[in-house]
Amino acid sequence: MLLEMHILKVYNRGKLNRKFMYICMEGIDGAGKSTQIQLLQKWLQGLGYSVEKVVEPSSSAVGVLIRKMLKDPRSTSSDYQKVLGLLFAADRMLLMEKIGQEETEDKIIISDRCFYSSIAYQSPSSWIKEINRFVRKPDLVLLLDIDVDRAVSRCQGQDQFEKKSFLKKVQKKYLSLADEEDFMVINANSGVNLVHKHIKKVIAPHLGICDTSIR
Ligand SMILES: Nc1ncnc2c1ncn2[C@@H]1O[C@H](COP(=O)(O)OP(=O)(O)OP(=O)(O)O)[C@@H](O)[C@H]1O
Ligand SMILES: [Mg+2]
Repeated sequence: MLLEMHILKVYNRGKLNRKFMYICMEGIDGAGKSTQIQLLQKWLQGLGYSVEKVVEPSSSAVGVLIRKMLKDPRSTSSDYQKVLGLLFAADRMLLMEKIGQEETEDKIIISDRCFYSSIAYQSPSSWIKEINRFVRKPDLVLLLDIDVDRAVSRCQGQDQFEKKSFLKKVQKKYLSLADEEDFMVINANSGVNLVHKHIKKVIAPHLGICDTSIR
């Protein structure tokens, strides 16, 4: 969606100065999610917001198991992806409990991935949607859209060819999801500061922020 259209839509919805917001950053491995979340958190905290970061997989016992499995070179295989899909759904339910508790507070939750990652990485979508049936949808999803070669070159340690072809499929799925689910797509190929500026422009209208540094 174009930024102008996005801003208009947000104003029409009347969600300015909201007290609780659940934002999710999505994108393939190496897209810059963690980097941008750190900057976003710092910016919002500097403006006086209470911000909490959550990461998928979480630090729960299930999350620890997922991280271990992701290190396995077989993790891109179809069977492994199914197991990961189940584990991610379980880990996410634990996160949902935490997010539900925070909802009563004035807080912005920034999530490093959410259930859309499962839809983009694992399949079939209908099954992933079913096992994530009780998962809350974020108020805003930012998709960091990046050239796969560039993203892979930022990561290290895995089989490059296999990783690239896998991530190309994931990227395609993310872009079709962006259309279906109204994600804000951010060009993540440029430098860290430019990407950060774009993200601030998208978030500002949701919170009624008027920050001259982002014009
Ligand atoms: N815009 C950018 N330009 C150049 N390098 C970047 C940019 N954003 C992030 N990086 C670097 O690329 C690497 C991957 O970034 P980051 O860890 O933020 O990606 P990620 O999306 O969180 O990846 P993962 O999904 O694997 O956690 C890091 O070394 C980071 O410093
Ligand atoms: Mg990361």
